[in-house]
Formats: sequence, C-alpha cells, structure tokens
Amino acid sequence: MKPPFNYRKLAYAALDVTDLDASVRFYRDLVGLDLVQQDETAAFLRCSRDHHNLVLYRGAVPGLRRAAYEMAGAADLEAAFEFHAARGLAPRWLDEAACRALNQGRTFRVREPASGLTFELFDRMTQLALPYRHTVTKIARLGHIVVGTPDYDAARARLMDDFNFAVSDFVEGRFSWMRCYPNPLHHTFAMGLSERRHLHHVNFMVTDVDDIGEAMNRMKKAGVEIVFGPGRHLPSTSIFLYFLDPDGMTIEFSFGMEEIPAGNGRLPRMLEMHPNTMDIWGSSPAPRFGKGGAIGDGDD
Ligand SMILES: [Fe+2]
Repeated sequence: MKPPFNYRKLAYAALDVTDLDASVRFYRDLVGLDLVQQDETAAFLRCSRDHHNLVLYRGAVPGLRRAAYEMAGAADLEAAFEFHAARGLAPRWLDEAACRALNQGRTFRVREPASGLTFELFDRMTQLALPYRHTVTKIARLGHIVVGTPDYDAARARLMDDFNFAVSDFVEGRFSWMRCYPNPLHHTFAMGLSERRHLHHVNFMVTDVDDIGEAMNRMKKAGVEIVFGPGRHLPSTSIFLYFLDPDGMTIEFSFGMEEIPAGNGRLPRMLEMHPNTMDIWGSSPAPRFGKGGAIGDGDD
C-alpha cells in the first residue's frame, strides 16, 4: 500500500554542535542564515519566512539530531502518524508546550530504524513578519540532508514504503537520491551505504551561481576548509561547493536542481559508480568530506 500522505517540503535540520556561539557565528556570518533566537541551549536560524530552517543544539557529540518535514496539510500529518503506528514505528506526538516552543503546529517524531535517524513531521510553522535578509548569500532554501548507514537496503525500503519518499536516481546497492512526494525537487534527502551511521552533509540551495564563487572566496579568507568543489553533480545537474562547519560537519551550497513533477515524472535512473557521477568537472573530494557528524537521538 502506498503511504496515504503528502509532504510540502523539507523544513529544517537540527544539528548538535559542541560550541554553540562559534557555530552561530559560522552559520550566520559565513553561511548567511538569519539568527532568529538563541538561548543557552539552542539557536534558531532561517533562510526563508519560516521561523527556522536550521536549529543548533548545544551537544557533546556533533551530528544530525533530526530531519524535519512540513506536511501538505493537517490531514496528511494525521494519516502519516496512523500509518507509521500501523507499521510498528512507534511515532510519538509532541505535547502542546513543545510544539509552541518550536513555533510549530501539531508535531510528531518517528525514528527510521535502519538509519537510526529521527524524522519530525508537522503541520505548519510560524511565518515571520520580516523577510529573510540574505546578508552574504542569497539562499533559496534548505535543500537536502544526506546520511550514511550500513543498513542501506532496509533504510531505503522503509523510506519508500513507510515515508513516501520517491527515488529520483540511484547507484545500485550504494546510494539513493530521494524526493519527498509530491514535492518536485530532485532530492530533499539522500542516503548512502556506509560502514557506520553518520551525517554526510546538509545542503542549502542558492539563487545564483555567483553565490557559489563568492562563498568559495569568503570561506577561504575565513580559513574554512573546502572539501569538495566547486564542481557539477551529474544526478541533479547542480553546481556545488562543500565546506566544513566548526565541528567538521560538511555543509553544501548548490545552484540549480532538476524538478520531477508528480504524476508526470521520469523513471529513476540507475547511475554508474564513477567519480564523474559526483563531479562531471572531475574534481575529487578531500578526506574529511562527508565524514563528520553522528546520528543523534532526535529529542531536545
Ligand atoms: Fe548534496
């Protein structure tokens, strides 16, 4: 049975960081997100009218705490909860106070067991009155989150069968790029076979190719390690730049992405495992590319 619910979009990533102030400075001043609010334990940043598109939590181990998706509507959220419960995933609602603290409507969390990643699904987020200021980068949106897991096949099946993710392209047995149906963006989530569970990278899409070039020079001047690119991905045709945050977690800027409309989409392509699949311009990633960051336990 196809999961009976639809998504609107990838809404935010929650990261554990070891030095909250240093990470706020990095994501605000170098990545170009607006800081919305910060206290002792967490900071909320945005690149849209949404109250947050990135939440940083003070944590002992850097990593991805959870991935949060906004559903197409309230009925989709309810249907997703029922479906996940029936599939034995033990989803759990957040209480009202927790939803209010997140500036979100009804919200539940559910752990995908094969990757260990906690997903958060919710209906609506507070839209802020003032626009995103795009101070140093014209970020278009939080683009996608990528993780690695040894249980790749099981996680892939769960995400398709239980989470209603659609595979856009894949490398057989190794890697899948997935969209959150019916959102047309080529991927908002991707997953690869790995020796351990870990965050691979978090992506922000930018509005102009100049944002990529300017970011490269800004990062170099600030002493930020660039670990891959600039280059162009074969699967999504996007131009990319990857760099490391203060904890060594990999962040990506990318420009351009194929869109696959619901109901009129192409079939997923089975791509060759080849360096040029990752960069048709032929550059190679540095050793720390996609290595930093654990998979956290999901809760605040
Ligand atoms: Fe990416």
